[in-house]
Amino acid sequence: MSAPPEMPELVTRALRMSLERGYVQTSRSETGRLLATLAATRTGTIAECGTGCGVGAAWLRSGAPKATRVITAELDPELAHGVMEMFEHDDIDVLHADWTTLADHAPFTLIFIDAGTARTTEREQIVDLLGDGGMIVLDDFVPTASWPPIVAGRIDSLRQAWLSDERFACVDVMVAEDTSVLIAVRR
Ligand SMILES: C[S@@+](CC[C@H](N)C(=O)[O-])C[C@H]1O[C@@H](n2cnc3c(N)ncnc32)[C@H](O)[C@@H]1O
Repeated sequence: MSAPPEMPELVTRALRMSLERGYVQTSRSETGRLLATLAATRTGTIAECGTGCGVGAAWLRSGAPKATRVITAELDPELAHGVMEMFEHDDIDVLHADWTTLADHAPFTLIFIDAGTARTTEREQIVDLLGDGGMIVLDDFVPTASWPPIVAGRIDSLRQAWLSDERFACVDVMVAEDTSVLIAVRR
């Protein structure tokens, strides 16, 4: 049996930044490999809401076709400027901004957002950024097999809303024992 594929160099760099800054919210590699695979199907512009230390953006850039634009927004100035510098020559547009300002660059063919950030906003605000056939990847859910999705004794209403939305084909993918990701594609 051969070893799993190497980490892309961009991802290694971003992981190093996470380690150096003690940043623990970074996307896991299982999610990252999924992102790169999905990004490989995308033309136009891909957006990430919440850059962190750039790990998600690095996976997206590594998978996406060269002509596909990757743009990411981060509210924290130190993180945003650190990632901007790190990716200065890597064809990733990093904004120090609230992710809602990404609307100026829409429509997107793929949006990557974590559940925590997504819960702070109206879902329709995200839906409006996606073109036909546009895909959204929502990270950081707690796996559950129940319907409606129940976590810690409460219905996960964000997950329920995406999975029930007739405008989307949507799937809940358990990428690791402790993490589930939603992938929704606009019909
Ligand atoms: C879970 S982390 C993101 C991890 C990152 N996507 C990755 O792949 O490693 C969430 C990030 O979103 C940022 N954030 C929170 N609210 C935001 C907002 N309204 N606009 C932009 N960034 C935001 C936080 O500062 C934090 O760095």
